[in-house]
Amino acid sequence: MSDADLIEVKSKAEFEDGDRELVEVNGAEVGVICVGGEFHAVRNKCLHDCGPVAKGQVGKKLVGEFVEPGKRVEKSYADDEPIISCPWHGWSYDLETGEQLADNDLVLPTYDVIVEDGVVYVDGQQT
Ligand code: FES
Repeated sequence: MSDADLIEVKSKAEFEDGDRELVEVNGAEVGVICVGGEFHAVRNKCLHDCGPVAKGQVGKKLVGEFVEPGKRVEKSYADDEPIISCPWHGWSYDLETGEQLADNDLVLPTYDVIVEDGVVYVDGQQT
């Protein structure tokens, strides 16, 4: 990665938890989202119908663990696996990998976010 690939977003101090900022990355609109002090960046174009997914609600992934036949599945919310849900029709994506939760073959483009000297940058190379 070279410095030319980095797109400045804004100062880390200006972000509060849940804040998001839209930036243009190589002609595409990308949403940078602060979740629990961590930063994520996704293309702001939902794979369903091009909705503004980066403006959607952030939550936690519901994970289940198979116990044994005849038993209930143990379910919980994963604190370290944030998701985002598109505000138009609710398609939800893993914020880290971009995978659509109902169909892992559908992957929303994601980008690395770097914080350097208190400034947040998006790496213009898709992950
Ligand atoms: S456009 Fe995103 S869920 Fe339909």
